[in-house]
Amino acid sequence: MGYIKKFFKPYIDEAQVYSPGGVLRLLYQQRQDWIRMMSNESPFEPSPRVLEAVEEAIHKAGWYYDSDFVELREAIANYIGFEAERILVGNGSTEILDMIFRGFINPGDEVILSDPTYPLYPIRIEVAGGKNVIVPKILPEYYWDIKGIIKSITPRTKIIIIDSPNNPVGNTIAEEDLKKLLEQNVLVVLDEAYGEFADKPLTHLAKKYENIIVTRTLSKAFGLAALRIGYTIATPEIINYLTKIKIPFNVNYIAVQAAIAALSDKEYLKRVKNDIARGREYLHKEISAIDGLEAFPSQANFVLVKITKPGVTGTDIEWKLADKLVLTRKYTGKAGLIGEYTRITVRSMDENRRCVEALRKIMREY
Ligand SMILES: Cc1ncc(COP(=O)(O)O)c(C=O)c1O
Repeated sequence: MGYIKKFFKPYIDEAQVYSPGGVLRLLYQQRQDWIRMMSNESPFEPSPRVLEAVEEAIHKAGWYYDSDFVELREAIANYIGFEAERILVGNGSTEILDMIFRGFINPGDEVILSDPTYPLYPIRIEVAGGKNVIVPKILPEYYWDIKGIIKSITPRTKIIIIDSPNNPVGNTIAEEDLKKLLEQNVLVVLDEAYGEFADKPLTHLAKKYENIIVTRTLSKAFGLAALRIGYTIATPEIINYLTKIKIPFNVNYIAVQAAIAALSDKEYLKRVKNDIARGREYLHKEISAIDGLEAFPSQANFVLVKITKPGVTGTDIEWKLADKLVLTRKYTGKAGLIGEYTRITVRSMDENRRCVEALRKIMREY
């Protein structure tokens, strides 16, 4: 008994399993009338073009289709303004991030992260054998400690990861600061999962620097999270290298057709961006006006809320909101946040209003 463990890689055996949500998610599955404000999903149905493409594609579910995704890469290239040879497609940007970690990290190599950040990174870095070097972001805005990051670079540093807009804070890195990091002799992964919601995404820096790898997704603004479509933009040299890691047919044919249709609907995207920006302004303004709550300015489809009333915790707010059928995500003590927090995804105006009303009632009771 137990001898099987000797075959395990210790750094994988010791890694955690990522959990995309807590107990409340499980409760949700029994009731469909909750407002989903906990996972930064899109509140909107996909474009009607997507629904049509999926219906048609299902008839060809028996095919092994193109594994290089030529047509989809052309559509992405057209959308993002890069050549198709600079794009690789993944099963969500999560798969792309994983390919990057597996592709570049040797056991013991270091990756620099800035807490608070997306909690999936450190787990997948450990699974790849890497060592997480955390450089905390600076209070009160939780902005990146650029000098601190540069100081933490050692001969073992392979990658610096920047998620901008940042999850969970929602802020973005300044172009000059990202350039300072790109001038170091390491790879910089720029995760722009929420790039469509930002005033000034920084994907264009991949035209100038060869050590940047940008990851993006159709999960957020295009509302296709369940279909799992992400992509990366890098030099052809890096793309060719990562292609060796990619398994064949890593994105299914139906998702590929859905993605091509989604990218063709410019009006849909414009509407989503406008509606999210409007909802985000509303949540920021109205939540900040509630005594005991303070919302961070955001460039993403969510707002981070600090609970400033003494004695009230993130758990209290999460559970009391759930009581009123609003699901949010407590961020207390997570990933370097100091104090009590909850993160709220922007939804339709009606749902945003219901959330604000619920928060007003809850806070009045304290
Ligand atoms: C910062 C960040 N990057 C990547 C992802 C993963 O997105 P995908 O659905 O493309 O795997 C998320 C998902 O929430 C995220 O918050």
